[in-house]
Amino acid sequence: MAKPFSKLSEKLILAPMHDITNIAFRLMCKKYGAALVSTELLSANAIARENNAVMSLALSCKEEKPVACQIFSNNTENMVESAKILERKGFDSIDINFGCPSKKIMQQGGGGALLKRKNKIYEIVKEVSKSVNIPVTVKIRLGVDKKNINVLEVAKLCEEAGASAVIIHGRTVDQGYSGKADWNLIKEVKENVKIPVIGNGDVIDGKSAKEMLEEIKCDYVMIGRAAIGNPFIFKEINEYLKTGEIIKQTKEEKIKDYFEYIELAKKYNIFSVKDAKLRAQEFTKGIVGSSKLRQRLNKIRNWEEIESLIKKL
Ligand SMILES: Cc1cc2nc3c(=O)[nH]c(=O)nc-3n(C[C@H](O)[C@H](O)[C@H](O)COP(=O)(O)O)c2cc1C
Repeated sequence: MAKPFSKLSEKLILAPMHDITNIAFRLMCKKYGAALVSTELLSANAIARENNAVMSLALSCKEEKPVACQIFSNNTENMVESAKILERKGFDSIDINFGCPSKKIMQQGGGGALLKRKNKIYEIVKEVSKSVNIPVTVKIRLGVDKKNINVLEVAKLCEEAGASAVIIHGRTVDQGYSGKADWNLIKEVKENVKIPVIGNGDVIDGKSAKEMLEEIKCDYVMIGRAAIGNPFIFKEINEYLKTGEIIKQTKEEKIKDYFEYIELAKKYNIFSVKDAKLRAQEFTKGIVGSSKLRQRLNKIRNWEEIESLIKKL
């Protein structure tokens, strides 16, 4: 029996994103109204070995709850073992990645590569959901390519195997991030499964979030790229969904958020100059003078210089 997917306080969920959704960034998104946040995808094989580098990414805290940990592997035993470890570490749900198009992950037989192996998907979902007491969700794409669309079949299979909810990114693995997400196929799944469906792909503002909720009638909306450098997006969209008003941050507020992110990164020992530079570019996107800032950031080697550059913006 699937564990019920707990009802969330709001409609918006932060998408798992490699090198983006660390604990500091998740806390920022939570503060602005993300109803569920997620780690980036982590190797279940490495977690099962309790590999130090990966365990440092499988970090969570009570202020960000509820928080999901996303895992990938084609090894069922390691998926089960890692799910048990993550449950003990306090994660509220386990999300299984069956959609990642990255070559590195696909070559290991994980992520999107598994969309071709329905029996394996069934086995992994069944064994993982049996072995933990927290909900297990799956994040899938439409299929490996346009000729092999199998999202409905896979979603039903996952439901039967014990998944508590299904997250669908409306693109094929082959598509990567190109083209437009196909929401019609997500809608078809919503009409044919009983577990909650979380729609994902191309939601960038209040209008598109409202459209997705109304067109697909999905239970929740997952937001990825639009949140990069902009955790405020959750507040903006929640406000739009409630009142129809469009609220925007000032330049000063964006910069304040950047420094708040840095403070959190330091607090959780994940601060690095490389990350601070990348986030500086992301958080200041759209601010006048930010393209010049980007060029200057490329030459910088330490935090003090980044700090003074951003303060001068
Ligand atoms: C930089 C980046 C990293 C990503 N990493 C992951 C990941 O670790 N796990 C995953 O399931 N999806 C990952 N994705 C995909 C997103 O979760 C999401 O499905 C996709 O970006 C579509 O949503 P969007 O249109 O709101 O961006 C990543 C996307 C981006 C842009």
